[in-house]
This record gives sequence, structure tokens and C-alpha cells, in this order.
Amino acid sequence: MENIVLKEYINNIPKAELHLHIEGTFEPDLIFKIADRNKIKLDHNSVEELHSAYNFNNLQEFLNIYYTGAKVLLTDEDFYDLTWAYLEKAHSQNVIHTEIMFDPQTHTDKGISFDTVVNGIYSALKDAEKEFGMTSKLILSILRHLPQEAAFETYENFFNHRDKINVLGLDSSEIGNPPSKFQELFTRAYYDGLKLTAHAGEEGPPDYVWEALDTLKVNRIDHGNRSLEDEDLVEKIVNNQIALTVCPLSNLKLQVVDDLRDHPLKTMLDKGIKATVNSDDPAYFGGYINDNFIKTAEALDLTEDEIYKLVKNSFEASFADEKRKNEMIQLLEKYKVNN
Ligand code: ADE
Ligand code: ZN
Repeated sequence: MENIVLKEYINNIPKAELHLHIEGTFEPDLIFKIADRNKIKLDHNSVEELHSAYNFNNLQEFLNIYYTGAKVLLTDEDFYDLTWAYLEKAHSQNVIHTEIMFDPQTHTDKGISFDTVVNGIYSALKDAEKEFGMTSKLILSILRHLPQEAAFETYENFFNHRDKINVLGLDSSEIGNPPSKFQELFTRAYYDGLKLTAHAGEEGPPDYVWEALDTLKVNRIDHGNRSLEDEDLVEKIVNNQIALTVCPLSNLKLQVVDDLRDHPLKTMLDKGIKATVNSDDPAYFGGYINDNFIKTAEALDLTEDEIYKLVKNSFEASFADEKRKNEMIQLLEKYKVNN
């Protein structure tokens, strides 16, 4: 198939994004605009200079830069503007449902209130629903490099925002911070009725994916690439229809893979894994969701059928209610490839 046809198919097909850190959508020009508004002096003198600092060799090097960018966010309006900028882009790429992670500890640790962060993000989500018909879920993500006690303190805020927060997540530096470190917290969240997800198997070993599934009882795995190293784990993931929220351009930039042509996405599909495509931190990794689809499809020679499957997986694996899920899957029907 001609690439141009595949690109158009990818651009047009309605899709869900399930793995997206809102702080990772903070584009250099918006960082400068908000820093200026808040009278914060940045270490870099221009958008270009800041952008050229974006070269990292692994997850930790990336996280150091990413946490620095987030420091200029102070007010409800800042969080609103950050979220709105992402939602407009996502809408332009035919995202009709998005599940957004935010890292409250990054902000509360510098004195910003939890309410400011959530209220700013949530108002933008509600506006996107009104203006674009885009639905969403909000994922409170815990920084795993901090102790579980700190996570519990943050988690207490959830009770004032039950109407806005739907999911508990786990992110940040994976190696040395296994899922089991947060067993009590995730058990508590399960009984509080939250859905659960965790980053696992991005840099960490298959054992961390086992722990996320068996100990934390997560509904989904974020990344999960290294699951493929363990056949029994693959069998469990397939049998239990556990979705992996895969982020190809992130994996390339953070050197989880050396070349997109070696990316495991197609292997995952071939093994029957419910894989989905997502952008993770698009402002830092060189592309939003459609770029992730297009570049990976080119590198792995994906067919329209495979793109359709990936998109359908994202609707099925979403935390949207059944009515919305069915509605979204219905919208997909006309993109089904005739065999
Ligand atoms: N926080 C933002 N992006 C992340 C990633 N890819 N892995 C872990 N933590 C993150
Ligand atoms: Zn992530």
C-alpha cells in the first residue's frame, strides 16, 4: 500500500489515547509563555536552546529534564492552558477519548496545592467534552521513586476529588522501585473503587510486570515491552486480555529500542496481546499520537488491518463506561478494512 494512503487512514481513524502524561505535553514555547507570565527565569535563553537540551539516553536523564519543565506551573490557569493545548492537538488528530496522567507530587512538593492542579486540568477536560465531544478519564499517578508514605499523603486528596479522578497510576524511575513497594496503596485504591494501572517492563524486568499484575492487581500495564522476555507472562497477559499501553517514539528516544524497526509492537499483536499505541510525553519525544502510529507503521510495515486492531484495542481497553465504549467502537466500523 502507498504510504500516503496509510497516513490518511491513520490521520482519519477515530482513536483513544491511554498513556499520556500531561506534564509531558509541555511544549517549549508554552513553557516560555507561562514562565514569563509567572516571572520565572529559565535556565535556557530561548525556545530553541531549551529544545536542544532534550537529548537523553535513558528514562532517568529524561525525567530530570521533564521535572524541571514542570516547575513553572503555578496556577489553575497554567494547568488549564497546558491541558487545553494538548486537547486541541489531540482533537486535531482525531482522538475522541483520552486518559490523562498527572503527577501531583511534582507540584505539591513545590508548594502548589493539589486542588489547583486538579481543578485546572479538569476544567480543560470538561471544555473539551463540550467543544469537541471528547471524553476523558483522569489518572492520579504516583511517583515511585518517593516512599509509599508520601504516596498515601497525596492519595488522601483523592477524597475531595472523587468526581474527577478515576484511576490510580504509577510512574517515574522504574529500576529499584518495584510495584510491590506500593502494595498497600493499590489495595486501598482498589477498595475505594478506582481502576488501576502501572508503568512496568519499560526498563524494569518481567518480574515487575508480574508484580504489577499479581500484587497491585492492575487492570492495564503501561509500556510492558519487557514482558516478551517471559513466555509464561505473555500467556497470562493474553489469557487475561491485559492491555499494554505501548509508546513507540518514547521507547526510541529513551533507548528502550535502538531502532523502530526492532520495536516489539507487531510481535505483541502476533502473539495476541492487546497492544495499543500512545504518545507518553509527546513534547519531549518528537511526536503526538498520529506520529507514533505513522512512524511505527512505516518501520514495521503495519497494514490497515493492524492499525484498525490497535485502535479497537484502545477503545476496548479504555476505562470509559460500556455505553461510551460501544459508541466509539461503532464509530470505528466504517474504517474496517474489506478483505
Ligand atoms: N513519567 C513520564 N513519562 C514516563 C515514562 N515514560 N516512564 C516513567 N515515568 C514517566
Ligand atoms: Zn509513561
